[in-house]
Amino acid sequence: MTTMESLIGLVNRIQRACTVLGDYGGGDNTFSSLWEALPSVAVVGGQSSGKSSVLESIVGRDFLPRGSGIVTRRPLVLQLHKTDEGTHEYAEFLHLSKRRFTDFAMVRKEIQDETDRVTGKSKMISPVPIHLSIYSPNVVNLTLIDLPGLTKVAVEGQPESIVEEIENMVRSYVEKPNSIILAISPANQDIATSDAIKLAREVDPAGERTFGVMTKLDLMDKGTNALDVIEGRAYRLQNPWVGVVNRSQADINKNTDMIVARRKEREYFATSPDYGHLANRMGSEYLAKLLSQHLESVIRARIPSITSLINKSIDELESEMDHLGRPIAVDAGAQLYTILELCRAFDRIFKEHLDGGRPGGDR
Ligand code: GDP
Ligand code: NA
Ligand code: MG
Repeated sequence: MTTMESLIGLVNRIQRACTVLGDYGGGDNTFSSLWEALPSVAVVGGQSSGKSSVLESIVGRDFLPRGSGIVTRRPLVLQLHKTDEGTHEYAEFLHLSKRRFTDFAMVRKEIQDETDRVTGKSKMISPVPIHLSIYSPNVVNLTLIDLPGLTKVAVEGQPESIVEEIENMVRSYVEKPNSIILAISPANQDIATSDAIKLAREVDPAGERTFGVMTKLDLMDKGTNALDVIEGRAYRLQNPWVGVVNRSQADINKNTDMIVARRKEREYFATSPDYGHLANRMGSEYLAKLLSQHLESVIRARIPSITSLINKSIDELESEMDHLGRPIAVDAGAQLYTILELCRAFDRIFKEHLDGGRPGGDR
């Protein structure tokens, strides 16, 4: 692994450990400010725009609940941890930390069950996130957050207030300056009506931390294309737009494998008369790489503030550990220790990196 990969991996693990500790109700400022300082990617868009599909394509796994209506009813904080080549892929929930999932159909079921546990079987939503980690040699180090889809009208059985509740919940994630916005817009709708772009424009008017993703290019009317959007003319962002082709509902019903879907997506762009010239800058795999590179550059730029926060955390953690005489959950003590160790590792790797004479990173 490169130094940056190790640092990002550590950032991921520190984020996770902070969350575990937060769960003990401590709400300690050290951990919340550490978490807030670390970047993550929020996936935003209208209902059925393809958010879950894009996430699955990035992971290369089929594991999210899918269907019509509001399927995602709690935020899903998904941490991807890149592991060494040859290691086995598995998933782990924060609320079930003793269980390793290797069957991703069971991951889907657990997300559904855990959603229902908090919201009831109703169509209610809850801002309490579900935390899922995936450990795999085939992922890039990233923290992604799947959010309920923005909607304009409540459906049968839901209070009118749900429209605003969802919008407020999504906004609470994307308004944080450390949040990278993955704004999903389907190609078979007018970009001017995109819920994702509307919200992104509001919280990130300069388009500095927004990545535009155009889904469903395969569903556009014959004779039309999305080049105006993808080439940045319809709505300009600092980062490039990426077009993707996810599995259709028919593909999902047929259980089309993700590997096959990725290959079909690559073929789609390679042979497309409209997008062929952009083929190497389109598709889910490219999107995953782009995001991970962006995250890397954000972390690189923030290393000074992250390290000073980490050093402050180390000091606070050390004194916290000294006070462990007071009653504290055994697990919480172990978590404090884990965060301390991770922070020390970050500091050490970062210093070695500096000693290597390449401050600012191995460009
Ligand atoms: P979400 O509600 O935003 O999470 O959207 P989903 O990912 O669940 O997708 C909604 C529906 O659109 C599903 O039936 C998907 O199969 C379909 N879909 C998503 N992206 C694409 C795409 O690029 N092409 C096609 N043909 N269908 C897509
Ligand atoms: Na949906
Ligand atoms: Mg969804």
